[in-house]
Amino acid sequence: MSVPFIDIKRYESGFLDKWNEKVSVMSKNASFIGGVEVSNLEQSLKDYTKTGYAISCANGTDAIQLALRAISIGRGHKVLVPETTFWATFEAIVNAGADPYTVETNMDDLQMDFHEFEKAIDKFRPDAAILVHLYGWGSTRLQDFRELCKKKNIPLVEDGAQCFGTLYKGEPIYQNAYISTTSFYPAKVLGGAGDGGCVFTNESKLAEIVRTLANHGRTTHYGHGYVGWNSRLDSMQAAFLNLVLERFPDRLKSRIEYANRYHKELKSLGINNILPPGDYTQNGYCNVNLFSNEERVELEKLLKEKGIGYGIIYPGAMSEQPGAKDYIKGKTESKNAIEISQTVLNLPLFSYMTDSEFDEVITIVKSFKVGKN
Ligand SMILES: Cc1ncc(COP(=O)(O)O)c(C=O)c1O
Repeated sequence: MSVPFIDIKRYESGFLDKWNEKVSVMSKNASFIGGVEVSNLEQSLKDYTKTGYAISCANGTDAIQLALRAISIGRGHKVLVPETTFWATFEAIVNAGADPYTVETNMDDLQMDFHEFEKAIDKFRPDAAILVHLYGWGSTRLQDFRELCKKKNIPLVEDGAQCFGTLYKGEPIYQNAYISTTSFYPAKVLGGAGDGGCVFTNESKLAEIVRTLANHGRTTHYGHGYVGWNSRLDSMQAAFLNLVLERFPDRLKSRIEYANRYHKELKSLGINNILPPGDYTQNGYCNVNLFSNEERVELEKLLKEKGIGYGIIYPGAMSEQPGAKDYIKGKTESKNAIEISQTVLNLPLFSYMTDSEFDEVITIVKSFKVGKN
């Protein structure tokens, strides 16, 4: 039996009928930009994340760019960014006109390392920093990151593309961020029917700038207070996300259940399955295991043979990407980030995977481990 790495077509019964109905009504009414679907979505996102403002936009990369621009980051500014993240985080800094400086990863939680971050602040004197909450949880030192940045007057953007539904100290992780972002890319925990994103903040001034920038810097219909761009979320997209949100608790529950089952089973096989730090309730975005590089190569071969999907998230550090060399202005260590990229392997995890799919994955991984002993 083959098992996909992710399957985003596992809709709840009746979901597609409701979606088709919405598409039909919205098409008849030509409700394509803005309107009630977008405002309802923003209200629901604001309520869910317990933030003061939720401003939807075209995608998660734009959300980071909007956040950077809102905190006045632009040409020549220095921005700290984790070595381990998706490339979009790095890109957003460059696209905002600023210079990225990468910071080493912590081997325990696989997030940006707080100690290295402190050193990077002293060494580079950054104008802003981005912390990424990777894999469905965040740093053990999240509170310290926030407090240090506040103390040093360094605006901190939290890239939360992967952590919608994640709780930190029992509350939505976005709640106490200065400014944070998410992505509605279809494979995300709250996934859309295409691209989408959102910026969250409790600061009214930042929210106002983000909203303006995302709509051509408009202050009136043909009055432009800023040079922004078009990063509006389509109404259809918002309508889809509103439908998903109604079912979100079940989707989240399913992911978390399998994430926890993985922890239990893989641990009993002696596999280094990464557990989120104690302050977090993960959202089940990603299963993360570290092997030796040799073992990973062998396991990849077996998984391919058996038709089991897997991920390598991510296969390289940011500073090592060919595209980085013209833009990166400095870095701390990248030893851990490189080691993780050479040893990480992610097993299938998605909403409504079945028990038999889960059992199949475990059986194959078990046969691999037993064969090695
Ligand atoms: C950590 C991280 N940041 C940013 C993004 C960019 O989001 P999008 O693909 O919606 O632009 C993603 C997702 O793809 C991501 O995983």
